[in-house]
Amino acid sequence: MKTTAIDIQNSLLRTKAYVNGQWVDAAGGKTFAVINPATGEVVANVPDMNREEVRAAIDKAHDSWPSYRDKTAGERADLLRKWFNLIIEYKEELATLMTLECGKVRSESLGEVVYGASFVEWFAEEAKRTYGDVIPSNAKDRRFVVIKQSIGVVAALTPWNFPLAMITRKVAPALAAGSPVLVKPPAESPLTALALTYLAEKAGFPAGVLNTITTRNNSEIGKEFCENKKVRKLSFTGSTGVGKILMQQGAATLKKLSLELGGNAPFIVFDDAEVEAAVKGAMASKFRNSGQTCVCVNRLYVQDGIYNEFVEKFSRAVAALKVGNGMEEGADIGPLINKKGLDKVQLHVDDALAKGARVEQGGKPMEGLFYQPTVLSDVNASMLITQDEVFGPVAPVIRFKTEEEVIAMANESDYGLASYFYSRDIARCWRVAEALEAGMVGINEGMISTAIAPFGGVKESGIGREGSKYGMDYFMEIKYLCFGNIK
Ligand code: SIN
Repeated sequence: MKTTAIDIQNSLLRTKAYVNGQWVDAAGGKTFAVINPATGEVVANVPDMNREEVRAAIDKAHDSWPSYRDKTAGERADLLRKWFNLIIEYKEELATLMTLECGKVRSESLGEVVYGASFVEWFAEEAKRTYGDVIPSNAKDRRFVVIKQSIGVVAALTPWNFPLAMITRKVAPALAAGSPVLVKPPAESPLTALALTYLAEKAGFPAGVLNTITTRNNSEIGKEFCENKKVRKLSFTGSTGVGKILMQQGAATLKKLSLELGGNAPFIVFDDAEVEAAVKGAMASKFRNSGQTCVCVNRLYVQDGIYNEFVEKFSRAVAALKVGNGMEEGADIGPLINKKGLDKVQLHVDDALAKGARVEQGGKPMEGLFYQPTVLSDVNASMLITQDEVFGPVAPVIRFKTEEEVIAMANESDYGLASYFYSRDIARCWRVAEALEAGMVGINEGMISTAIAPFGGVKESGIGREGSKYGMDYFMEIKYLCFGNIK
């Protein structure tokens, strides 16, 4: 892989961080390089901020809170609506930046921009609906009212696999609720975040209300967010391991947390399923972003009666996927994000093969950070690939006999984010949907993410829900008012 710099022409390219309405460098001009995983080229260099600078940014965000929360919900909604319109207007530029820095194929990047924008639109609307309650009184001289208020400064730690949508899914409800935000995008994909911030500036958000910190120093900055009393809420999307560390670090200030963590999604195909539909759903869910999403299928369970047919049709569809640089027309599968990601995929494949799995399709690394889209059959529960997220384009297929057996296998995981199954039996659909231990279930559907439904997991897949009418609640506090002496 090369490490030369490329010259990119993109009207949204911003290479400074954004604090209190100013585009800023890091102390001493310290920077780090953003690398295109498809080519190894340097896309741009951005500031590498330290803990003191982040603390100062938190102070500024906190200062902006009183005047921002005092805006009417309608005024905040207008700002969000302007931001939404700008994101849509600049969707092509945003998609290009995204593909260059995270490797996602461009058609998917464009899809993510629209998906990410939909959270801004949704929460612009929800801003006006943060109703409280009037509680019927239990005393003649007292009245009870519940109001909802902005929680205060929010820190958002976001992942590289969705450089835009995971920001808007956190930031839009926070801003709608009246809370200032500090976003820390990952070192792999800060450019989309900065471009998004530039559009928020253009939309007219006041200084200090949205701040974007670029840094490589994840652990120090995460610690500052957890320990700083002015940060009232931390919202994180990433690994379960890091989520646990943040929870420990946040204990001292009893930080309010939303955690969207790892998954190990089962995808069950029953004998009575429509096989073509199941293949289509498995393709969409497994190979989205080259297998690098928390809701990607991780384990495919196929019932005895249609196992051979499914494996054959699925393998044929996988063989037709085109691997390539995400900027190339027609590419379906881009690179893994980095060497660590590639090594994990290889480790899972090697472990499965050593324990008796068979390669139906692919099974090998390619040039650079690319890996062949792969189907493994004869997989069983002893293999690493069924126990841990592979986070790559490898689909392990496991044979099962009964409904009870497959539910037990699907639930035998510490994770519980997404799950999927295919069946044409309505009674079975209800039974299985209720029995699966997961925050989200796709029934005859492989693509379940949308701004209008709650996204989140059970067990070690996280705490809280994002998107939907529930998404605002995590950025607001409930306050109860008791009016006494009413005569
Ligand atoms: C994720 O993988 O973290 C998010 C996926 C989605 O929003 O669909």
